[in-house]
Amino acid sequence: MYNLKKFRGAIRTGSLTATAMVLCACGGAMDGGQMAEETYVIKFPHVTAPGTPKGRTAERFKELVEERFPDKVTVEVYPSSQLMNDDDSLEALAFGEIQMIAVSLSKFDRLTQAFQIFDLPFLFPDLTTVEAFQASPAGQDLLNVISDKGFLGLAFWHNGMKQFSGPMPLRLPENAEGLKFRIMESDVLQAQVQAIGGNPQKMALGEVYQALQTGAIDAQENTWSNIFSSKFFEVQPYVMETNHGYIGYFVAVNPDFWLSLPTDIRTGVEDALNEATAWGNAQSEEINQTARNNVAESGRSEIVNLNDEELSVWRETMAPVWQQFEDQIGAERIAAAAAL
Ligand code: SIN
Repeated sequence: MYNLKKFRGAIRTGSLTATAMVLCACGGAMDGGQMAEETYVIKFPHVTAPGTPKGRTAERFKELVEERFPDKVTVEVYPSSQLMNDDDSLEALAFGEIQMIAVSLSKFDRLTQAFQIFDLPFLFPDLTTVEAFQASPAGQDLLNVISDKGFLGLAFWHNGMKQFSGPMPLRLPENAEGLKFRIMESDVLQAQVQAIGGNPQKMALGEVYQALQTGAIDAQENTWSNIFSSKFFEVQPYVMETNHGYIGYFVAVNPDFWLSLPTDIRTGVEDALNEATAWGNAQSEEINQTARNNVAESGRSEIVNLNDEELSVWRETMAPVWQQFEDQIGAERIAAAAAL
């Protein structure tokens, strides 16, 4: 794990600028009087397992880049929080310690409130609607909202829709009363859990399994692919099929690093990213459905299907969260997404 404590203060206060520290591990050493050809390394840590939508898309991106630029550009993908957690990767990217991230949109609260729209409960019914929003002018604008803070957005990647898991069947919000829910670093998710009477606890993904196992927390929300690959189904006897929210990723590079690349490489890497994005986003739904089947077949966790009446109680109970964040997110942006 990286030790990034020294950088923490600056980013916590949001005072970071893109000037931080530049950039990749590059070659360029003198060799017999001649300048050796420059090489580029893109360090790309992330927190999910290799078989998840993000894990697979990151590997596809690596293959495409290295096919295009053999011996010239290397993409080092570090899955499963091997190198660092998401919080640390935000700092590391802004300071040029790493070159690329794909961090959950829910984890950018301290940098921007614009991504909070993706956490509003029951706003997006499925990935198709999310994709339509992300492709719209309102969605594409979001790619640039934190470029002045060291994060140039290049793409959105999907994971999938979220489900609640818990120690008992949660058919109605009232069943969640008093339970400790792990959530990502998001004030909207905090308000969402408070709306159902739960006690929200912000925590890194890598700590959740043990916290569930030891009883430090009682419940959590996540996609099927994360519930399966992070083995939450082993320690959560019930998963409620609520599809109440979305997990997707902001794929970003450090702007100084990006602009330092020769134009042909930058264009080639961007093409590779666009191809990997289309490839990965097209399979995220299927990866989640396979993970759902794996959870069902494990016999360790029961899948609780809610009827329309029960789902509408969840929807109504969480509805005040929209109003609570309307000023921050922007009524127009919410209306544009809801209209889809
Ligand atoms: C992720 O999917 O990258 C993170 C999800 C989480 O922290 O629960």
